[in-house]
Amino acid sequence: MAVIGPGRQLFAGVVLLVLLEVCSWPGARAQQSSVPDVIETKADLGGALFADRNLSFSRRQNCVSCHSPELAFTDPRQLGAVQGAVSRGNDGRALGDRNAPTLGYASLTPPFHFNSAGQPVGGMFHDGRAADLPVQAGAPLINPVEMGMPDRASVVARLRENPSYLAAFTRLFGPSALDDEDTAFAAFGKALAAFESSQTFAPFDSKYDRALRGEAVLSDEEEAGRALFFDSQRSSCSRCHARLSEDKNRETFSNARYFNLGVPENTNVRGLNGKAGTVDHGLMQNPAAATQSSAGKFKVPTLRNVAITGPYMHNGVFQELRTAILFHDRFNGGAQQEARNPETGQPWAGPEVAANVETALLTSPPLGEAEIKALIAFLSTLTDQRYEHLVSVP
Ligand code: HEC
Ligand code: HEC
Repeated sequence: MAVIGPGRQLFAGVVLLVLLEVCSWPGARAQQSSVPDVIETKADLGGALFADRNLSFSRRQNCVSCHSPELAFTDPRQLGAVQGAVSRGNDGRALGDRNAPTLGYASLTPPFHFNSAGQPVGGMFHDGRAADLPVQAGAPLINPVEMGMPDRASVVARLRENPSYLAAFTRLFGPSALDDEDTAFAAFGKALAAFESSQTFAPFDSKYDRALRGEAVLSDEEEAGRALFFDSQRSSCSRCHARLSEDKNRETFSNARYFNLGVPENTNVRGLNGKAGTVDHGLMQNPAAATQSSAGKFKVPTLRNVAITGPYMHNGVFQELRTAILFHDRFNGGAQQEARNPETGQPWAGPEVAANVETALLTSPPLGEAEIKALIAFLSTLTDQRYEHLVSVP
């Protein structure tokens, strides 16, 4: 904490006024934050902002609440009623409608664009509606079911409360950085993006990466799963969950394209979050791709750290990794075709959006039980080293 000397009394008075004002908001009491006095780099500033609860209306929620570094930057609060499928907002009540994705390796997702074949690629959120990390960062602050700030001006006021931020924004982004909402949000986004692009988010130190570098050896089962995963004659996986053309030492396990897998509605969540009867149209809700051909499509997620980031799919409708794999396999006309969702004991529920369900790229020889086990063993090797103790291979 900065020591307040005589020359800073006026400043202290202003801080006190600000504190009195915010304390009159319901539930809002200024939080002791762990922001260092001096912030050296944009990434450090982003790190401080990522952890600062004062940027939510109630001062109870930060980015970490839903993107914890302890769990590959997903939401660790396994909320009983919704089984961890969606997140609670800063008021402790509001429930979202989509699963908080990992932020691990997100910096390697290209900005939203159309490729040479006219297909949408990249972007942030399950529907790519934020072009890139800097644009994305401002959204949760003013999302009513997330950090819940009333508007951008109130966010800037919260930033200006903190002398360390005032100094850091000014030094790193210029003297007028916090003067107006546009410059402040642009700087905020760049700082967050710098932090999210740091090595902490993309260490490339999983067993898979170590094996590529000759520092580890995959078990027979893991190796069988790896070979199956990358063999597009025997499985579909690498048609979507691989970039292939990129540096193979920096594989992201997603081509960042958009597909409708026919994922069923999460009726449990919709019964609790007040959105019963609504439809999530995915990519069609992205203003840059708002056509019928986008209906029901969601971004191909990375499979890095997937063994510890359940529940799965954009709405968290499946608890187990095995279920997510069986769900893909239901297209393949083999033994699994008649199979039921092992989590409900019922036949697979129909798609939330029936249009555009992808079949061509998903079709492959059906997977047998040993192959499914091998795929799970392989996917578990995509866990960053610091989370390896969290993996429980059945
Ligand atoms: C209440 C929970 C919650 C909070 C708080 C929250 N997020 Fe998220 N985050 C989500 C959810 C849910 C999504 C997916 C939303 C969607 O696709 O519409 C998401 C998506 C993202 C994505 C997109 C990742 C990708 O690969 O598409 C990024 C980046 C992100 N959040 C960063 C942040 C940052 C930075 C903060 C703090 C300023 C933050 N989040 C605060 C729940 C949260
Ligand atoms: C046609 C492209 C495509 C193919 C082929 C494909 N997937 Fe997917 N996969 C997706 C998309 C898109 C999602 C997200 C769907 C959603 O949330 O609505 C997904 C989701 C997943 C998930 C859940 C991840 C999470 O974080 O929620 C897993 C696990 C997965 N896929 C594994 C596989 C495996 C293993 C294979 C091969 C057997 C495979 N996929 C083949 C497109 C594909």
